[in-house]
Amino acid sequence: MGIIFDETNKVFLLNTKNTTYGIAVTDGMYLNHLYYGRKLEDTNIRYLLRENEPPFIPSVNQREKNSFLDMAPMEYPETGMGDYRESAFCVRSEGGHRASELAYQSYQIVGGKPELEGLPATWGGEEDCTTLKLFCRDETLGMEVQLLYTVFEEEDAITRSVIVKNAGNSSIYLEKVLSTCLDMDDRNFEVIGLFGSWGRERHIQRMPVGYGRQNIASFKGESGHQEHPFMALVTPETNQDIGEVYAMNFVYSGNFIAQVEKNQFDSVRMLMGIHPEGFTWKLEPEEVFTAPEVVMIYSDEGLGKMTRSFHDLYRNHLIRSSYLHKKRPILINNWEATYFKFDEKKLLDIAEEASKLGIEMLVMDDGWFGHRENDDSSLGDWFVNEEKLKGGLNKLVEDVKKTGMSFGIWVEPEMISPDSELYKKHPDWALQIPGREITQSRAQYVLDLSRDEVVDAVYEMIANVLKSADIRYVKWDMNRQLTTIGSFQWPADRQGELYHRYVLGVYKMQERLTKDFPYILLENCSSGGARFDPGMLFYSPQIWCSDDTDAIERLAIQEGTALIYPVSTMGAHVSVCPNHIIGRVTPFETRGNIALLGTFGYELDITKLTEEEKEAVKVQVQNYHKYNDLIREGDYYRLASYAENGCYDSWMIVDKNKKRALVFYVQVLARANAKSKYMRLKGLDPKQYYQIDGKRYLGSTLMNAGISVSAEMGDFRSKLIPVEAI
Ligand code: GLA
Repeated sequence: MGIIFDETNKVFLLNTKNTTYGIAVTDGMYLNHLYYGRKLEDTNIRYLLRENEPPFIPSVNQREKNSFLDMAPMEYPETGMGDYRESAFCVRSEGGHRASELAYQSYQIVGGKPELEGLPATWGGEEDCTTLKLFCRDETLGMEVQLLYTVFEEEDAITRSVIVKNAGNSSIYLEKVLSTCLDMDDRNFEVIGLFGSWGRERHIQRMPVGYGRQNIASFKGESGHQEHPFMALVTPETNQDIGEVYAMNFVYSGNFIAQVEKNQFDSVRMLMGIHPEGFTWKLEPEEVFTAPEVVMIYSDEGLGKMTRSFHDLYRNHLIRSSYLHKKRPILINNWEATYFKFDEKKLLDIAEEASKLGIEMLVMDDGWFGHRENDDSSLGDWFVNEEKLKGGLNKLVEDVKKTGMSFGIWVEPEMISPDSELYKKHPDWALQIPGREITQSRAQYVLDLSRDEVVDAVYEMIANVLKSADIRYVKWDMNRQLTTIGSFQWPADRQGELYHRYVLGVYKMQERLTKDFPYILLENCSSGGARFDPGMLFYSPQIWCSDDTDAIERLAIQEGTALIYPVSTMGAHVSVCPNHIIGRVTPFETRGNIALLGTFGYELDITKLTEEEKEAVKVQVQNYHKYNDLIREGDYYRLASYAENGCYDSWMIVDKNKKRALVFYVQVLARANAKSKYMRLKGLDPKQYYQIDGKRYLGSTLMNAGISVSAEMGDFRSKLIPVEAI
């Protein structure tokens, strides 16, 4: 049983295969955090609360209640009663006061996992997971709060979320409803986060945790290029294989905060949830608010184990697409090939040539609708530009199919261009603040997706396009962040709900799209990888990683992304050189090898490739067919990081039954007078014999002594090394 309650000690234990999370009820009302870490076999852990040390607990020494609140490890800390660390929850009453005190009432343990209404979330049946609901109440406000914990035993994961109900008689205003809090004693923790920019998403950064508060956040209305809804605290010795890791990842695609705070008593508090800046939510009597969930993973075997737990959880219990376990069609996207300058002839030329080389789908990117010839027009006018695509969309799709390829299309449904017909008709549909200029970004405005009528109308337009031809893939893009947050629909005291309502609107549209068109492969995208988060993965099995397609730049981007997300979700394409973003020239083979650790596809004008490059495409296509099942479904191990060593990068994938593996190695910069390197493999069966390059080795030898990788002439040279059990 994943969850047990010890009545006598008033202790809840949440057990996964290798971990335990403990909660205690103190003084009949407080929910205190007891423990999170390696698995415990006994509920006798109440002593961890230090109840016999000053300031004691409130019933022993009422005078010191605020000292207790400021010192005790809290499961869900609130504002206004004495805990001066950052709170997870803040509510304002009708009278304008900000304080609450949630008293524990009762609990329920249920098999499986209840859905979170309107929100993406992990899912599972009774055989997969168990859920604990802790019911709390604030008497003064008449407010009820449920703290939800779901335990996924196999994947060593615990998810948390919060449901708030106004059970009183007057309105209340939620000003902060974070989804999780984890209070622990500091152990010289360091914090790991993912940082970046457009074209440089999700680079790993590690820093010490000092006194005070350090946070990672977005106020952009999406998760963003710059910071990522992920945070891990690690003990100092932590690397891929050893050390303790406490990781959190937010299943949400809007504003977020992840924070660590170290206080006067050397306790650390980790928090994660919707960013309170720009957020208020009015709850009328009987109304309910649900906070999105946070996934927590603890690993005592370093970052590698954490990564594999996330990958398994997301593949088994988050991504719903029927494409998840399938080899995705190898696609060719015309963006870097043509940008906005294409017509049906050019697309057909690309399709014909691509088909000959084994590519399976043509994706028509931006520029096919309204009168869009560059990026400053026509968003919202979702009808095909027949001057550009003579004969219309259906004809083009049918012609592409005749080349043996299927067809996919790009859309950007959340946006509206100032010059569009849609904007002329519905200027009030753009997010805006009356009397203030609407800030443009990429010459576009953002639709007010907090309004159901806007969601419905835009969805219908997109659905009509998808019904008008045999379209098998959609790239859903989102190319700017939110500003001038105002809506004509909502009263003044609900304008603070817009950021979140916007995200809920996106989710509504994607939910409908995936239900109405289950056969369409959906790939999310946001100016590259600005919305690569677990929220979007609930709807799409893959997300475009970055507009930077340079193979070497991709090493750090894909390393950071794969730290959390299954490699099968990473949109990765081979493009031309010099690379359009940074001008680097890399070998064609290396570009292919690096794109293999992802969805794999092409983003170039294939009609312009040399014969030699075309032959290389054929080899890459063969490699994709040979290795994609393994790469998509296997366990991912990082062997070396170019971002760390400045010299070379290496990963490997091992299939679940340890019979097959694939090692990737790239020598980024060549070195004079260098000897070969021993790369120690990971994840193999120590007692199994394996064959590499026709030679036989024992698994333990490969893992302890390593394989020899020779130095190469030239920069950016890479190789794939297959490992087969014999
Ligand atoms: C974004 C995407 C690109 C491409 C362009 C089209 O930047 O990330 O892949 O689709 O938009 O405008």
